[in-house]
Amino acid sequence: MALSRRKFVQTVGIGAGAALTSSVWGRGRENSVWSAIEPDLQAVERGVICIASNENPVGPGKAVLDTLRSFLEGGTKPGRYSNQTGAVTEAICAHFKVKPENVLLGEGSTEILRAATQVFTTKTKPLVGTIPTYEECSGYAELIGNRVKGVSLNSEFKIDIDQMAAAAKGSGMVFYCNPNNPTATYVGAKATRDFIAKVNSTSPDTTILIDEAYFDYVTDPDHETHVPVALENPRVIVARTFSKAYGMAGLRQGYAIAHPDTIKKMREWTAASGTGSLNVFGLAAATVAIAQDASFTANERNRNKAVRDMATKWFKDRGMKPTDCQANFMFVDIGTPAKAFREACRAKGVLVARDFPPFEKTHARITLGTMEEMTKAVQVFGEVLGKKTTSAAA
Ligand SMILES: Cc1ncc(COP(=O)(O)O)c(C=O)c1O
Repeated sequence: MALSRRKFVQTVGIGAGAALTSSVWGRGRENSVWSAIEPDLQAVERGVICIASNENPVGPGKAVLDTLRSFLEGGTKPGRYSNQTGAVTEAICAHFKVKPENVLLGEGSTEILRAATQVFTTKTKPLVGTIPTYEECSGYAELIGNRVKGVSLNSEFKIDIDQMAAAAKGSGMVFYCNPNNPTATYVGAKATRDFIAKVNSTSPDTTILIDEAYFDYVTDPDHETHVPVALENPRVIVARTFSKAYGMAGLRQGYAIAHPDTIKKMREWTAASGTGSLNVFGLAAATVAIAQDASFTANERNRNKAVRDMATKWFKDRGMKPTDCQANFMFVDIGTPAKAFREACRAKGVLVARDFPPFEKTHARITLGTMEEMTKAVQVFGEVLGKKTTSAAA
């Protein structure tokens, strides 16, 4: 697997990791963790183009910023503990038409991913996930001494449904990251439903955690949230976050939606039920964010798609192949090791992501910044990669 949490903990010490998670407000989970290893990620304030961590370059919308402003100016609320989770829970319930017992809040979806790994994997019931995928669950499983079974992606860099279902037999939990980080690929709604049905029948005790962190960026017509499935099926959990399309990574708000029995088991493992790991700014912001009408996420999806189309064309015109990206980042076959590419880009003020084994010799993950940032970034990529356009139109 890619650099695991165990290795990360060995590198920076667990205390340092925990402190960074709660103190880095301006950027998100990935940035806070990986900037401990790659300090340049914190240089984002200094005019560097940071497209190394899957964040939203435009941040939250006006309604959220107004709420935060009035919160700061308006008195005593930040002085209170944050066990006031009713308003955001209600807002999530209204958005998805679910009940409070279907919802579990977390300090980002990170807390949800960890709680699920803690509850549903054991020493004898491993975690199953693709190689590569987002490392939170596998890193946490390793940290608590539970086994991780990796499944290769298919030739399109998508989850290999048959291999994954076979590996799921007898496992505690499947981490089904869709779109998958780092490959940005998406498995359609029907194939995902078939996968769930297959695992339910061949391995009825296995829980499937569907991570929909990047769902709002998907433009594949065959896409659907699996929230309705999770409500009915105690073996399915959907994880969601405010860190991506809502632009609130630094505010650390995420949640799970699932059957009440499943939520109850996980709730015991999150601090959110007490004074909580959740902060009052994030809770207030999330309450307002999810109540915005659907045009907010639609606009963000369109903004992202315009940048994604531009960058995709840029790479294709130069003979390089991105995967079919359905998120706010791309995974591109640049034909050269990611490390050398990363270091050369860094020297020119553009930060791209870490290595993602087993593809680190050929592929780079590039988060999509604003159109302005990406227009500058591709110029740097051109200088670094030295690839000429093969398209007369480019
Ligand atoms: C697939 C996926 N899930 C979950 C997370 C964690 O996000 P957060 O804790 O900010 O909600 C990330 C972060 O990049 C991610 O890529």
